[in-house]
Amino acid sequence: METLTSTRTAATADSYRPALHYTAKDTWLNDPNGLIFHDGLYHLYYQNNPLGNTWGNMSWGHATSADLLTWTEHPVAIACDEDEDIFSGSVVYDRHNTSGFGSGSAAPLVAIYTSAFKTGSLHEGVQAQSLAYSLDGGYAWTKHAGNPVLSRGSAEFRDPKVFRYDGGTQGYWVMVAVEATDFQVVLYKSEDLKNWELLSTFGPANATGGVWECPDLFPLPVDGDPENLKWVLTVNLNPGGPNNGSAGQYFIGDFDGTTFTSASTVTEGTQDPGRLGEYRWLDWGRDYYAAVSFGDAPGNRRLMVGWMNNWEYANDIPTAPWRSPMSLVREMSLQAKAGDLCLVQQPAGDLTVLAGPESFSLSAETIDAGVQVLAGAAGTVQRIDVSFTPGSAEEFGLILRGDGTKGTRVGIRPGLATLFVDRRESGRTDFHPSFGSIDTAPIVAANGCYHLTVFVDHCSVEVFAQDGQVTMTELIFPAGTSNELAVFATGGTATINSMRVAQLA
Ligand code: FRU
Repeated sequence: METLTSTRTAATADSYRPALHYTAKDTWLNDPNGLIFHDGLYHLYYQNNPLGNTWGNMSWGHATSADLLTWTEHPVAIACDEDEDIFSGSVVYDRHNTSGFGSGSAAPLVAIYTSAFKTGSLHEGVQAQSLAYSLDGGYAWTKHAGNPVLSRGSAEFRDPKVFRYDGGTQGYWVMVAVEATDFQVVLYKSEDLKNWELLSTFGPANATGGVWECPDLFPLPVDGDPENLKWVLTVNLNPGGPNNGSAGQYFIGDFDGTTFTSASTVTEGTQDPGRLGEYRWLDWGRDYYAAVSFGDAPGNRRLMVGWMNNWEYANDIPTAPWRSPMSLVREMSLQAKAGDLCLVQQPAGDLTVLAGPESFSLSAETIDAGVQVLAGAAGTVQRIDVSFTPGSAEEFGLILRGDGTKGTRVGIRPGLATLFVDRRESGRTDFHPSFGSIDTAPIVAANGCYHLTVFVDHCSVEVFAQDGQVTMTELIFPAGTSNELAVFATGGTATINSMRVAQLA
C-alpha cells in the first residue's frame, strides 16, 4: 500500500493548509463518498480530480484514518474512463456476500456510485447507479461487468447512499438517491445490490431553491434511548442554502422499511428565500456541503463529514496545489428539547487532541465597547470555548485570526437572536464577489447565556453553538501572520463568563 501524505504532517507546507482537516496533497476534491469504518480504519473516499485542482475528471480519491484527525492519502480508488465520470456514492461491507463479489473467505466491500455517462458512450446523457468491489479492504477496486445496475433513463439520478435495513424478520439493502432537479429523494430496495426495486419517494419538501443532492437516511436514539428511535433524512441543496449557495437540510421522522414520513416538513417545497429560516439546516455556514455519514462506525456512532466549500466560489478559493478541505468529522445525536427534537453535533475526532493544551483562560470579565486584543491568546489552529452573557451591547463576540483591527468576527446579536460569522475583513476575499459575507443563524439563549466552541484551523472556522445545537462552518483566508484573538462589543458592554483557549498545532 503506497502512502502519499499525511495531512497533519504536511500542515506547515503553506499557510492555508489545514492541520486538523483532510485535504488532498495536490489535487481538487469535493463530496465525501463511501464513508465506512472497516478493519480498524475510517475510509474516506471523495470526489477527486486526480489531474488538477479544479472540478473535472471525476474519480474517487481515497484516504484513511484511525483517529479521524490524521489522514493518509492513498492512490485513486475508482478512476473515470472514456465512458463515465465516477460521481458520488457510498460503500457497504457485504459481510454475507449477498452480491456474490466475494472470493473464498473474503467478503467484499461494495461501492455504489453514480456513473455520469459521457458523450459518445452507450448511455450518453444518463446518470445511473453502478457497482465496484474490493477484496483487499478498500484499496483496489474492480468495476462490475454488468454496470449500470440501476437506471431510470434520467440525466439527474445520482448520489446513492446504501445501508442495511434490518427491520422485521429479514434484512435488505436500502438505497436513498436523488432525482436532483425534481427535488425528490428516491428509495430502492435490493437483496443483492444488483437488482433494485422502487420503495417510495420523498419530496419536494421545505427548501427547493436549487437541486437536491447527496441524501442520507439513518436512525438515531432520542436522548440516547435505544427504544426510542427516530429517522433523520438529510438532503443537500445547491444553491438555495440559508446564507446563499450550497447547504444541507434535514428532516426528522420515521422509516418503516418502505417509506420515510417526515414530522418536520413545513412546506411542500418552496423557492421563497424568506422561508429558509423555518427549515432545519445541518449547518448554517456557507462551507458545509454534501455531508454524509459513515457506515459501520464503532459503538453505533453516527459520524458525518461535509465538504468544506461552496459551489458558488469552490473553484476560485486561493489555495494551491490542493483545493478544498473536508470538515471535521462530527458525531450526531438527537435531543428532545421544549417539545421538539433537535439534531445536535459535536466534533468526533480524538478529544485528547481536540481539547489541546490550554494556553489562555478568562473568567467573569466585562467587555467594554470596542475591541480588546487578548495578550497570550494568539494562534492559527485553536479551540476556543467561551460563554457570554449579554449586557447593553447590541452585538459582541470574538475576532479570530486578527491583525489588530481586522479579522473574522464570530458574534451574537441578542436583540435579533442571531449568531453570525462576518468574514468581510477575514483576509483574502477578492477571488469572488460573494465571499466577503455576513452570515447568520438563529440562536436561543440558554439560561441567559450563549456558549460557543470554535475550531480555527488555518483556513477555516467551525462554530458549535449552544453545545452543538447550531453549527456554522466557514472558510477564511487570512495572512499567515494574522494570529491575534480579540473580543469585541458594539454600542455597550457584555460579559465573558468563562473562556478557554487551546492551541491545537
Ligand atoms: C454534489 C455533486 C453531486 C455529484 C458530484 C459530482 O456536490 O454535484 O451531486 O455526484 O457533486 O462531483
